[in-house]
Amino acid sequence: MVEVTPTTGAPERRSSVTVKDNTSDTSWELPVLEGTLGPRVIDVRKLYTEHGLFTYDPGFTSTGSCESKITFIDGEEGVLLYRGYPIQDLAEHADFMEVSYLLLHGELPTPEQKTKFVRDITYHTMLHEQIHIFYRGFRRDAHPMAVLVGVVGALSAFYHDSTDISDARQRLIASHRLIAKIPTIAAMAYKYSVGQPFTYPRNDLNYVENFLHMTFAVPTEEYKIDPVVARAMDRIFILHADHEQNASTSTVRIAGSSGANPFACIAAGIASLWGPAHGGANEAVLNMLQEIGHKDRIPEFIKRAKDKDDPFRLMGFGHRVYKNYDPRAAVMRKSTHEVLDALDSRNEPLLELAMELERIALEDEYFVERKLYPNVDFYSGIILQAIGFPTSMFTVLFAVARTVGWIAQWNEMIEDPSQRIGRPRQLYTGHPQRDYVPMDRRG
Ligand code: CMC
Repeated sequence: MVEVTPTTGAPERRSSVTVKDNTSDTSWELPVLEGTLGPRVIDVRKLYTEHGLFTYDPGFTSTGSCESKITFIDGEEGVLLYRGYPIQDLAEHADFMEVSYLLLHGELPTPEQKTKFVRDITYHTMLHEQIHIFYRGFRRDAHPMAVLVGVVGALSAFYHDSTDISDARQRLIASHRLIAKIPTIAAMAYKYSVGQPFTYPRNDLNYVENFLHMTFAVPTEEYKIDPVVARAMDRIFILHADHEQNASTSTVRIAGSSGANPFACIAAGIASLWGPAHGGANEAVLNMLQEIGHKDRIPEFIKRAKDKDDPFRLMGFGHRVYKNYDPRAAVMRKSTHEVLDALDSRNEPLLELAMELERIALEDEYFVERKLYPNVDFYSGIILQAIGFPTSMFTVLFAVARTVGWIAQWNEMIEDPSQRIGRPRQLYTGHPQRDYVPMDRRG
């Protein structure tokens, strides 16, 4: 048995813990590192080479996989900071391009920096015309996330002038290309699924307006952008832009740690995001609300969520890190009211149902005990549906917004001098070495 006891409460980066191995009656010190915020971390990098032990943490519940300066979450308090700025302030005062610059470069842009950044993104929104052909290879009923994974992966076969990852300038161009092209790819995935012609990007529109235009405009009539919808979409993008070392971001980092092509790394992140436990939850929430259908049926679904023999979970509830109200969900809840009021939406009953479900769950002992609160996905689907997106596009929108976070984290990793290929170890519980048995002696 190995006992770990804190030995000093010394200043930053100078404390340690003593590890006592009872099997050999030896003990040794492990350094403890302190960041600017958040729990201290035990530095186990030399544990194997010096002491022959691995740590064991499936699901990484107690493991910091990297050092990062981008995003901070305090799950107990329900705090989310991008580069030190609270998410509520950014959602209220900034726009998505400003937040993207902040995530990528570490500081809010000056007016000149913002203008240049917007121009750099705007002039990369068009796709290589050859990419259009890829879409025709997909079935029309393909899930748009499948199309997104495929087409973003296919970008690796283009843009060879931005794939030398040791060159900071090429990395920057790849970053701009990804942020700029992902809305075009997403909108085209939608257009393909409904059998409408692709709409080319328009440089006179801002990032979100352009995305709405590419998604909803048809050649036969003028598409008018509703400013309330545009602002709500911009806010949704801000709320989803980054979330420290979640599954998809860790996937991007691991893929990138081998020196892989940046476009392929982001495709890997999109694949990871797709799952219902991660980005796919927004789609699952709306399907769940529609299945519940009426307030009277809420207790039945709450009962199912609590039943360990039933795989059903209350979608949009619970989070690995937040053990308090997800701050993004609070902003989203407010925004949902604003959008539905402005659109005079038929989604109103769905919002009422969601609020009642939230109220009942938050009073239920099962959810209280486990600190299960609504997460960002609980309300987002209601807004997105009211705007006109089909549920299959919800996770695609998450991916559009999260691309900047993935890119910022990927860049940070490449620039980190301590970065090495991500290569976890394991606790092997399989058969020990044994002799090969020829076929005629088996069975
Ligand atoms: N409904 C019912 N029970 C739940 C739920 C839920 N939504 N979430 C967690 N629990 C229970 C779980 O069964 C377990 O109970 P017990 O201790 O009795 O075994 C306990 O709460 C702890 O759950 P866990 O599965 O160990 O927690 P986790 O950190 O591994 O999972 C989660 C986090 C987000 C995958 C999970 O809460 C979940 O599946 N939620 C629903 C899906 C969802 O809304 N996902 C979106 C996350 S936010 C957006 C994003 O980051 O992509």
